[in-house]
Amino acid sequence: MKLADYKATLSFSNNSPSMEMPVYQGSVGPDVIDIRKLYGQTGMFTYDPGFLSTASCQSAITYIDGDKGELLYRGYPIEQLATQCDFMETCHLLLYGDLPNAQKKTEFTRLVTTHTMVHEQMQFFLRGFRRDAHPMAVLTGLVGGMSAFYHDSTDITNPQHREIAAIRLIAKLPTLVAMAYKYGIGQPFMYPQNNLSYAGNFLRMMFGNPCEEYVVNPVLERALDRIFILHADHEQNASTSTVRLCGSSGTNPFAAIAAGVACLWGPAHGGANEACLNMLEEIQASGGLNKVGEFMNQVKDKNSGVRLMGFGHRVYKNYDPRAKLMQETCKEVLAELGLENDPLFKLSMALEKIALEDDYFVQRKLYPNVDFYSGIVQRAIGIPVNLFTGIFALARTVGWIAQLNEMIGDPEYKIGRPRQLFTGSARRDVPPINQR
Ligand code: CMC
Repeated sequence: MKLADYKATLSFSNNSPSMEMPVYQGSVGPDVIDIRKLYGQTGMFTYDPGFLSTASCQSAITYIDGDKGELLYRGYPIEQLATQCDFMETCHLLLYGDLPNAQKKTEFTRLVTTHTMVHEQMQFFLRGFRRDAHPMAVLTGLVGGMSAFYHDSTDITNPQHREIAAIRLIAKLPTLVAMAYKYGIGQPFMYPQNNLSYAGNFLRMMFGNPCEEYVVNPVLERALDRIFILHADHEQNASTSTVRLCGSSGTNPFAAIAAGVACLWGPAHGGANEACLNMLEEIQASGGLNKVGEFMNQVKDKNSGVRLMGFGHRVYKNYDPRAKLMQETCKEVLAELGLENDPLFKLSMALEKIALEDDYFVQRKLYPNVDFYSGIVQRAIGIPVNLFTGIFALARTVGWIAQLNEMIGDPEYKIGRPRQLFTGSARRDVPPINQR
């Protein structure tokens, strides 16, 4: 860590001696107070459940300005990446720090492409699952299982192992997600086809079959590629922090990424796209646009436990820039498929309009997040609702592995070990069983 830019003084109202702490300035964004010596000097911990005010690491990968609604990967605005680059370039950027030139892009794409096939034995491992299992349950198992199939790239202290594990994860996730889908519907697995793009290959593995030639629709291919770019990284979110914490024990990258997949599954995080589409379908089934007002009243009633899924974000207190791009993509895909009058799209536009004007949402700075429109796009492409979070996991894998490798390369990294404010019983003696 660099030297302090300035200092902060912590004083106490109980006459305990005050303490000076270094403050560091990032390249952009809030400064951080270094509290590492706090416990040693005062015997106190800080208390911050949910990490509302805690920077858990230093990172040079992704920056979010939640007030402005800005998202930068390695300094580049998401709007420019989504419109001028493809997912392979974005992966290169996140992993290695810069956009590839044409030659490097070809080399990188070739490297990923030649790792798309999975170990043949993995299909037998997959067959152990129930066919009606949730794809995220299957995916958590498959990604964790990769450490059993690729144990020649599990040594995180070896930079070559880290590199090859990263490429394997990025290359094989689409294959595994598509296999989980095909298994669920009882169709044969489709081997990857390496003359297709990353997104095109995924579409073919999902929707192709061995009996017919599959022709990739370029509009859908580009839409999927954009979904991948928009979900590729998002600084220290819950699943990325899980990957870092899990990886901090020195475990292998496949195990750490499996932990990230498990965390992503939750409805407050990656599971929100599935929850959002289910919500739209429920409103539609109960009366559609006529029921929007009633539904919004439920959302605003704290006792109902109902939330407007796809709305709100811990960091964005403005329109999520990914939601704008996703809304554009949504329009393009629906137009391509002749679904301009899609009732769920109309419903989501109506919900968005009401929410953006309603005091409840305005006061709390709740705006649409990326998941608000991504479900509609994916559904239009033909992806089943329970696979949405799997698509998110596929796209976020590059972010997870870039963050994990950054952590391992950081000389200040230590095993993550938070402390607690203990509120349980103080020491007591075990009474004999007949006295309990
Ligand atoms: N609908 C209704 N009220 C909401 C919503 C919502 N979607 N989100 C937040 N609020 C209210 C919440 O009740 C609270 O009100 P009050 O101050 O009166 O108690 C206030 O807004 C602040 O909410 P919070 O839960 O304290 O905020 P948080 O930062 O802990 O949670 C969140 C962020 C994303 C979990 C939450 O906004 C949420 O549950 N949203 C719906 C789920 C969702 O769309 N998640 C996807 C996030 S983006 C993709 C990803 O990161 O994976």
